[in-house]
Amino acid sequence: MILGFIGTGKISSSIILGIFKSKLKVRRIYISSRNRSIAKKLANEFGRVKILKDNQDIINKSSIIILGITPNVGRKILSKLKFASNKKIISLISTINLANLKRLTKNKNIVRATPLPPIEIKKGPIVICPPNKTAKNLFKHLGEVLEIRNEKLSNKFWSTASIMAAYYEILNTSTNWLIRKGINKNLAQNYIAELFLSLSQDAVNKRSQGFKKLVADSQTPKGLNMQALQELKKAKFYYKFTKALDNINKRVSK
Ligand SMILES: NC(=O)c1ccc[n+]([C@@H]2O[C@H](COP(=O)([O-])OP(=O)(O)OC[C@H]3O[C@@H](n4cnc5c(N)ncnc54)[C@H](OP(=O)(O)O)[C@@H]3O)[C@@H](O)[C@H]2O)c1
Repeated sequence: MILGFIGTGKISSSIILGIFKSKLKVRRIYISSRNRSIAKKLANEFGRVKILKDNQDIINKSSIIILGITPNVGRKILSKLKFASNKKIISLISTINLANLKRLTKNKNIVRATPLPPIEIKKGPIVICPPNKTAKNLFKHLGEVLEIRNEKLSNKFWSTASIMAAYYEILNTSTNWLIRKGINKNLAQNYIAELFLSLSQDAVNKRSQGFKKLVADSQTPKGLNMQALQELKKAKFYYKFTKALDNINKRVSK
């Protein structure tokens, strides 16, 4: 397998880091010199990673091409590149749909995938649309693959995946609050990281019960958890959260 990455930013580098922790056999990974510092770091760390300056050169030398560029860059450069009909393309671009990707690349062997940065530790869901053997064989080594045939439905996962930063901000806010109350920074960071890891692991183990039960089971009547939940509900926190998902859905559904 020879992989080529157009765009060596956050998500491309997370995938490459995950690949070298996995059992996936790759002969070579070609990456673009953009972003230069990320590309240099990857090429220095892994002998099989080679930097090529020219995007077309990356495409020509690779069997699977991964598009790790932003939508604006994609709209600007994809139609100028030539993707031979035997090339397989996996697009990570959030807001260019399959029909437009096919039009821009003039290639039908194209699927969309939504890996997330924890792919770096071979964790997390990866939605592939439509189902595709090549993409599945690659990503099954790097996380939990979910194949979705309907593109409109698959877009809904982009909306829920976009809560990453908001989620980490809860960890950041909680940690800063502890520090302001006099807790040592390392202790605060350790506590919050372990707290959220344990809650997430428990949720994974109990997912078949449904999360509503976890919400109920986490509250003692008139207890502290009940108070926190009620205060946040009263402040319309979850209403606003749902609204944000709706607004992102509008953006990714265009
Ligand atoms: N980050 C995530 O969690 C995530 C998850 C799933 C999907 N995605 C999607 O993946 C795409 C990339 O996201 P990202 O977070 O990795 O963004 P990013 O870190 O900004 O990476 C984009 C990369 O594209 C490079 N680039 C710009 N112009 C280029 C060109 N003409 N040729 C080749 N490369 C070029 C940039 O290089 P310079 O820095 O030199 O401009 C940068 O390295 C987006 O469409 C995003 O929606 C992201």
